[in-house]
Amino acid sequence: MTLYFLSVYLHVTAACAWIGSMFFFAAVVVPALRNRELAEHAPLVVRIVGKYYGRFGWVTLAVLLVTGCTNLWARGITWGQLSDGTFWNSGFGLALGHKLVFVAAVIVATAAHHVVQGSRKRASSLGRVTLLLSLVIVYYAVSMVRGI
Ligand code: HEM
Repeated sequence: MTLYFLSVYLHVTAACAWIGSMFFFAAVVVPALRNRELAEHAPLVVRIVGKYYGRFGWVTLAVLLVTGCTNLWARGITWGQLSDGTFWNSGFGLALGHKLVFVAAVIVATAAHHVVQGSRKRASSLGRVTLLLSLVIVYYAVSMVRGI
């Protein structure tokens, strides 16, 4: 197994964990919290689950950022290329550029999510925005490697 393989493997696994956990939250945790039997304890469950979920989210994002950089390095992409405009005009560079803009947006949305945790309505809209942004990232990730 090469370092490149390991890096892409970890990157894709972290992307699955990151996006999978958001789907799980929206499709399982949120409806469960609306269940009458749990409704009374919902604020407490949200607070406790949110604490662990928040940590998990930051760890997966960190793994994505680190392995994203090692993917670039293993592909032989140098600082010289990254600081050259022609790289960012290539198909790969353009898709990577778009992807990084959305990664930055996800980081801002995740940080905002932590700040507004007290307001459930705002937190759930931000959760939906983060999921949407992440799906756009996957779109650019796939088009970056495989073309559209
Ligand atoms: C939320 C953040 C991210 C997500 C969800 C994500 C997702 C993905 C996915 C699903 C792939 C596989 C695409 C395919 O094989 O068709 C991929 C590949 C890649 N990603 Fe990311 N990524 C993220 C962040 C980053 C960052 C921050 C960088 C760079 C600093 C990066 C650089 C790369 C590179 C270079 C590849 C190509 C790997 C290869 O050579 O096959 N990613 N990403």
